[in-house]
Amino acid sequence: MLDPDLINDLRNVRDVLVFTGAGISAESGIPTFRDRMTGLWVHTDPMEIATPMAFRRNPQRVWDWHVHLADAVRVALPNAGHLAIAKLEQRGVKVTVITQNIDNLHQRAGSRNVVELHGNLLRLKPFIDEDAAFAVKQPPVICPLCGGHAAWDTCDPCANHADLAAIQLCSGPVPHCPCCGSLLRPDIVWFGEMLAPEAIETAWNAVESCELLISVGASLEVEPAASLPWCALDKGAWVIEVNPSPTELARYCHASIAASAADVLPGLLDQVAIGSMLDDPLNTFKKWFIAK
Ligand code: APR
Ligand code: ZN
Repeated sequence: MLDPDLINDLRNVRDVLVFTGAGISAESGIPTFRDRMTGLWVHTDPMEIATPMAFRRNPQRVWDWHVHLADAVRVALPNAGHLAIAKLEQRGVKVTVITQNIDNLHQRAGSRNVVELHGNLLRLKPFIDEDAAFAVKQPPVICPLCGGHAAWDTCDPCANHADLAAIQLCSGPVPHCPCCGSLLRPDIVWFGEMLAPEAIETAWNAVESCELLISVGASLEVEPAASLPWCALDKGAWVIEVNPSPTELARYCHASIAASAADVLPGLLDQVAIGSMLDDPLNTFKKWFIAK
């Protein structure tokens, strides 16, 4: 599959960045966003479902759409692609997973160094209406439970964290924070929203330090995430793309494998960092033993 010289170079890398998009979870039964027949955005206009404005306009419709996706996420299992990435980390190689996915499958596969650029669907947070907040002259009261914006006299001091933690993304009316009454929403990045500064900073640092970036199942259509593989290429890292429909990156990266994540990653990642294990077998064994 790969050029023998490239395989030889991959044997000695020690710092691997795996950048993933919805495609890596396709074989776990979670639809991607832009695949021609099955993509979520093929059947739904994201501007109607995945923006703060859409939630403000019709919270119940947005909530129900995300409940449907959460139901698919809950029954999904990590596939061979997720598991191969976790196994590479358990072999003692420094692996950073920068994922655009919100399905928690990397963590469920055993990966521990995961940056969720676009949040996590099964986590909730308060809906903060930025326009309304801007219109109000006095600074908001910050809810001690959810961090949302509370009106001056509505915080319920009897509500506790267990009450909030018990609320799940499941069918029914859109829930409110038991303390301040804020509407709750999925803790994911909608269109037009900023990524968490610490997530994007960690991602850029990982690009800076990595020797190898593998882009898996990403269409590279949404910024700033889409720039990460290009920046790794610019700074001289090895870059490999795994995607049955190669993107523009395929023309410039060191290898483009037009196949599925579950088919490719186990064999590909077995070739990575073998050299570093042979160089220092005792240290590798120790790390492997501790990881177990
Ligand atoms: N293995 C690998 N890649 C696959 C597989 C598979 N089994 N099946 C599909 N793909 C590829 C598709 O060819 C496509 O290029 O995965 C990619 C999925 O692209 P998108 O659906 O655009 O998903 P993604 O790149 O993650 O979208 C980025 O856009 O809507 C926002 O926030 C959303 O995080 C998402 C972001
Ligand atoms: Zn609250």
